[in-house]
Amino acid sequence: MKYLKISKETEEIVKQMTLEEKLGMIHGGQLFQTEGVSRLGIPPLKMSDGPMGVRREFEAALWKGAGHTDDYVTYLPCNSALAATWNRKLASDMGEVLGKEARGRGKDVILAPGINIKRTPLCGRNFEYFSEDPYLTKELAVPFIQGIQKWDVAACVKHFAVNNQETERLSVDVIADDKALREIYLPAFYEAVTKGKSLTVMGAYNKVKGEFCCQSRFLLEDILRKEWGYDGVVISDWGAVHDTGLAANSQLTIEMSVTYDFDQYYMAEPLKEKIRNGEIEEQVIDEKVIRILTLMTRLHMLDGKRKAGSYNAPSHRQKALEVARESIILLKNEKKHLPMDTGGLKELLIIGENANCMHANGGGSAEIKALYEITPLMGIKTLLGGNTQVVFVPGYCREEMKEESSLNWQEDSLRNDKGKEKQAEKNTALHNKRKMLREDAVRMAKEYEHVIFIGGLNHEQDTEGNDRKDMKLPYEQDLLIREILKANSNTIVVLTGGSPVEMGSWISMAPSVLWSWYGGMEGGTALAEALFGKVNPSGKLPETFYKRHTDCSAHAMGEFPGGKTVTYKEGVFVGYRYNDTFAVSPEFCFGHGLSYTTFSYDNAKAVRAKEQTQVFCTVTNTGTVKGAETVQVYLAPLHRKKEEPVQELKGFEKVELEPGESKEICMVIEEDCKGREIRIASSSRDIRSIIKI
Ligand code: BGC
Repeated sequence: MKYLKISKETEEIVKQMTLEEKLGMIHGGQLFQTEGVSRLGIPPLKMSDGPMGVRREFEAALWKGAGHTDDYVTYLPCNSALAATWNRKLASDMGEVLGKEARGRGKDVILAPGINIKRTPLCGRNFEYFSEDPYLTKELAVPFIQGIQKWDVAACVKHFAVNNQETERLSVDVIADDKALREIYLPAFYEAVTKGKSLTVMGAYNKVKGEFCCQSRFLLEDILRKEWGYDGVVISDWGAVHDTGLAANSQLTIEMSVTYDFDQYYMAEPLKEKIRNGEIEEQVIDEKVIRILTLMTRLHMLDGKRKAGSYNAPSHRQKALEVARESIILLKNEKKHLPMDTGGLKELLIIGENANCMHANGGGSAEIKALYEITPLMGIKTLLGGNTQVVFVPGYCREEMKEESSLNWQEDSLRNDKGKEKQAEKNTALHNKRKMLREDAVRMAKEYEHVIFIGGLNHEQDTEGNDRKDMKLPYEQDLLIREILKANSNTIVVLTGGSPVEMGSWISMAPSVLWSWYGGMEGGTALAEALFGKVNPSGKLPETFYKRHTDCSAHAMGEFPGGKTVTYKEGVFVGYRYNDTFAVSPEFCFGHGLSYTTFSYDNAKAVRAKEQTQVFCTVTNTGTVKGAETVQVYLAPLHRKKEEPVQELKGFEKVELEPGESKEICMVIEEDCKGREIRIASSSRDIRSIIKI
């Protein structure tokens, strides 16, 4: 068989199977599982979303929660939050929690992580993805995958490939040149399967080079199997297969979908038909079945030696908290405005709906039925205790909830006009309501000495199936923030979201700004700790925070969202690679993140070996509180060719230091640095030291 070593036993089992039994294994027999073959002791393959925890149980053949009480789980921070930690160990630990919970819930495949590159800040699923940078993505995705798989559960790295927008996601044909594919969009997938050894891969909805990804010879055969030597299982995204012959003859292993006519899936009855009439060889089905059996062997599903896992363990919530703590980013902090002092704090006014909002149960397939979720308001009240009077006013509100559609959104999602339908009209009543809430909040902001605004996005914007139309804060928040800052110039601004927002109309007025992502069940605890200095923020931006979306290359040079096709005319100039090369200033640059302490960098040096360079530097905590710094290494060509970015991230290391403490760190660059200068930096635009070798 092509691209896989087969054991004798596996071959024997396949020989004993009927065609119907084999077909049952290669397509969904329920929404989240395939058929097993009980007479031969082969179990079904059970899958579940997703990146932030194990999704609730669904009815077998209905997009409706099964209504169980035993499927509440640990709600983990989103992948963007994990990326903001720049912490490989935490990525591995968080992967372990996810794997252990998936196994605890009886799953075989966890449909995570999502590692698509953030090409534009407007992509609705950005919160599920790590970064605009392939190096940062793979450095965290690999340990995350390895962590999951320690628990005899398969990771399913998704969505392969160039799935970078939700608009027309089911059909758009992505046109990207080979350099962009090889240097930006494919490297994290390459590492995920070669180094991370992800046991499964999910094919994307979109097309590449005119072929649907899940039937693509170019992606699945030429690249994944032949070039990368991948021998695992390829699962389609739900409803991403469009042709029986093409799918069967491609390197896709399992077809999943969102409809309930399981027998009519392309790789079910229609395939049987084609095999019976000789159009397709049975051999191609055997190959797929062998891959699935090999996966089952690797997961110890057939030998009774499988790990059991568990979910909702206190240690899992602790890990969620640790990730949330390190993910928070201090974007701005003039005159040490933060942290706030808890001593003698009598009253505190909190404005903003996000202070009081739970995010777990939203966003699309990444939704989580969380065991609990600590909101920022709850986190702050818990931290301060009863002697501080914490007063909350919403300040703004979202659209009224629309009537529930009879279909679940996921079934609905195969209709492409969903995004447009979803855009709720702002009516006069809503505008008036917001005006009233705003006036209330502004009046109170004048009365209180201490005010925190907590706003940003929620899963109405950061959601599967829909892209934003611009980076503006929703619900008239810009006006609200400006008015609050005019009323009380001391107000702390906290924003939550999975993608950047425009801040230009008020950023110069705000003395301090904290960014928090969808931080999981303990997100509110972590935020409170950061606000009051119990934890020193150490997150750094895993993506560029543009001033406006038109400052991003996908919009400035490329196409977005395109039509039937979308051409990535910007090539490799994605994220900071564009902004730095073409001198477009962002609001906050890639790699940026402040601390309550300061760090100095000394003794920079580089030792060059064959295909590797070791970069050393000594970092000292020059402030008065403990803190952690992520030192970044960028390589910059000495004589840049037109098609090259001015610099690219190639290494980083996070180090924690007590006040006054120094440590030498070593960053290994896995390539020859010849002809390039080595920049040791605190962010992509805060270069501390340059080495030329
Ligand atoms: C998403 C996948 C998800 C699948 C199953 C699709 O809509 O694109 O990421 O894993 O549904 O829920």
